[in-house]
Amino acid sequence: MTRKILILNGPNLNLLGTRQPEVYGGETLAGIEAACAGRGEALGVEVEFRQSNSEGELVDWIQQARGTCAALIINAGAYTHTSVAILDALLALDIPIYEVHLSNIHRREDFRHNSYVSKAAEGMICGFGGFGYLMALEAAARRFGTSSEG
Ligand code: DQA
Repeated sequence: MTRKILILNGPNLNLLGTRQPEVYGGETLAGIEAACAGRGEALGVEVEFRQSNSEGELVDWIQQARGTCAALIINAGAYTHTSVAILDALLALDIPIYEVHLSNIHRREDFRHNSYVSKAAEGMICGFGGFGYLMALEAAARRFGTSSEG
């Protein structure tokens, strides 16, 4: 069985580091990617990390994960709150899905409280910055029996 974990990032996450640092922190997406690669190696899983500002491209990548990836970690950015197309693509996937947000979306504006992604996700981690991605990787690896906690 493939041990590849796909990590998808949605719109504006390419701006991390300079985008509203008071909300999202100073970490860059490249820094989060490097941390995920390191943790993936330690956990014995292959990590593929991508970002797109385009809803359609994210849908395409979710579809392509079918049969090629063992788990999906997704921070869909603002599409989290709007995209039935992304939800439908996620519902068509038969692998575990972990939702991540850097900020605590429940502490923010009302329109961020609804997540379409959550309706397809096994679990959601929010409010811990880039560390949330590493928590999601641990949760995914735990399913394969390779996490540090067993
Ligand atoms: C976000 C939260 C979303 O509400 C927002 O639109 C983002 C980032 C987060 O990681 O905290 O782009 O997904």
